[in-house]
Amino acid sequence: MSVEQRVALVTGAGQGIGAAIATHLHRSGSLVALLDRDEESVRAVATGLNPDGTTALAVRADVDRITELESAVELVGSRWHAPDVLVNNAARTVAGSVWDIALDEWDGVLATNLRSVFALTRLCAAPMRERGWGRIVNVASLAGQQGGTVAGAHYSAAKAGVLVLTKVFARELAAFGVTVNAVAPASVRTPAMDALPAGRADELADAIPVGRLGEPHEVASLVGYLVSDSAGYLTGATVDINGGSLMR
Ligand SMILES: NC(=O)c1ccc[n+]([C@@H]2O[C@H](COP(=O)([O-])OP(=O)(O)OC[C@H]3O[C@@H](n4cnc5c(N)ncnc54)[C@H](O)[C@@H]3O)[C@@H](O)[C@H]2O)c1
Repeated sequence: MSVEQRVALVTGAGQGIGAAIATHLHRSGSLVALLDRDEESVRAVATGLNPDGTTALAVRADVDRITELESAVELVGSRWHAPDVLVNNAARTVAGSVWDIALDEWDGVLATNLRSVFALTRLCAAPMRERGWGRIVNVASLAGQQGGTVAGAHYSAAKAGVLVLTKVFARELAAFGVTVNAVAPASVRTPAMDALPAGRADELADAIPVGRLGEPHEVASLVGYLVSDSAGYLTGATVDINGGSLMR
């Protein structure tokens, strides 16, 4: 199979980093399924990439719902073939002090930001393993490494969970030509950032050694490398992309 014909499934592709990743992979020649719970935005991104839907497919699904994930994977399989590349990017960035987070809100954020990664990875990894080639990238966060300043404890705990799930699946799949890695951005200029109180984004930028927020296309380029053939010896890693905010 040529690289041009690979099928990529990107979650949370309706805006921000997910839209940039989908765009990058599409430009690199992949067939791209863009999944999001916001149908209007994901259709707009997919149509912008390919108006007639031959090479970019908008899939409306809520990653909180396993049946919707199953249907989404089936749809992609029937349109092209089971995904060769999965990018688990969808997440909710939710603030809240440890004293204020309600337990049902905790469960909700963990479901979107962590359980969905487990469920969708399992669904997509089985055919990758059979085929003997696959690439999975999980979009984590500096918050999962150090605890967040913007998002709450539920978000940070979920992202820490994503980092260890990355290793668990990487070990499970390494012998089958399937790599699993995480990228850990810090503050990236996306609609999630626009929702912050005025001046907060500038404060965050001032605290970053390179002196600015990251751009979605910078994360997308890194993901593009991780899903390439060249990255076959790289698995179970967390690749920091944070402007020097965490050096280790
Ligand atoms: N922007 C940042 O500074 C930053 C920093 C670190 C990590 N991240 C991570 O990068 C990823 C993308 O972040 P972003 O800033 O682009 O976010 P964003 O909020 O701009 O976009 C997230 C997308 O995911 C979709 N989504 C949310 N919940 C969903 C669900 N249940 N089912 C399906 N789709 C759902 C939204 O509709 C939206 O299109 C997330 O995993 C986030 O945690 C972002």
